[in-house]
Amino acid sequence: MANSGNSIIVDGIDAAYGAVRVLEDVSLRAGDGETVVLLGTNGNGKSTLMKCIMGMVRPSKGTITARTDGQEHDLVGLTTEQIVDLGIALVPEGRRLFPRQTVEENMLLGASRRKARAQIKENTEFCFEVFPRLAERKNQLAGSMSGGEQQMLALARALMLSPRILLIDEPSVGLSPLLVSRTIDAIKQLKDHYQLTVLMAEQNFTQAIRIADRGYVIVHGKIAFEGGSADELNNNQLIREFYLGL
Ligand SMILES: Nc1ncnc2c1ncn2[C@@H]1O[C@H](COP(=O)(O)OP(=O)(O)O)[C@@H](O)[C@H]1O
Ligand SMILES: [Mg+2]
Repeated sequence: MANSGNSIIVDGIDAAYGAVRVLEDVSLRAGDGETVVLLGTNGNGKSTLMKCIMGMVRPSKGTITARTDGQEHDLVGLTTEQIVDLGIALVPEGRRLFPRQTVEENMLLGASRRKARAQIKENTEFCFEVFPRLAERKNQLAGSMSGGEQQMLALARALMLSPRILLIDEPSVGLSPLLVSRTIDAIKQLKDHYQLTVLMAEQNFTQAIRIADRGYVIVHGKIAFEGGSADELNNNQLIREFYLGL
């Protein structure tokens, strides 16, 4: 499979909702096969950045460049559908499942990307292997699953797109510590299997850092710190104060 060189580069973007400025001169990148975390507490612009990448919010300045399947694309100005078609998938904050559809129906709805249709069987089998609970519950309505199961389903739905680059917005929200830990483990397993490039927004520093190669801290819409390794993030004073209370 031509799965080499999948990367995303955000360069100097500003974004606002009307007069409310949310992102200011944000630059970051996730290289081929890397897991990069975007750390920040509530309201600092993590989801807005994800939405800019997915074409759901249009930046007023800057560029977003993605490389997938050996081709480079300028994402600003493309529709979300076009961006998804390039192999970039988002697991949105709060999962956004179809609660009155079954587990399996939610997964099939994920397979909208043209290139993913041929891989429905293989992707379904893999998701059921990684998340056996989804296989057991495939006929259950998504809305009646527990929070942890719904997060697994949201991940599975994104995987049904056969993505090259996976954006995951706060997978830990609303989950118990044990389930957060399992979710993070599952993300690592998926990433390893598919050689995915992952950009994950989180405020659960301790969990996110377990699987991160590198990361950024966003404060009030600006990148306040860039850590070139998990160790650098661990030892950063800003992080120790904000996230670890040290
Ligand atoms: N649709 C919107 N309209 C107006 N303001 C918004 C909208 N979405 C988010 N914001 C504001 O933008 C800021 C950043 O929000 P967000 O990107 O969701 O941060 P995070 O994901 O880090 O919690 C917040 O002040 C939030 O209130
Ligand atoms: Mg958010």
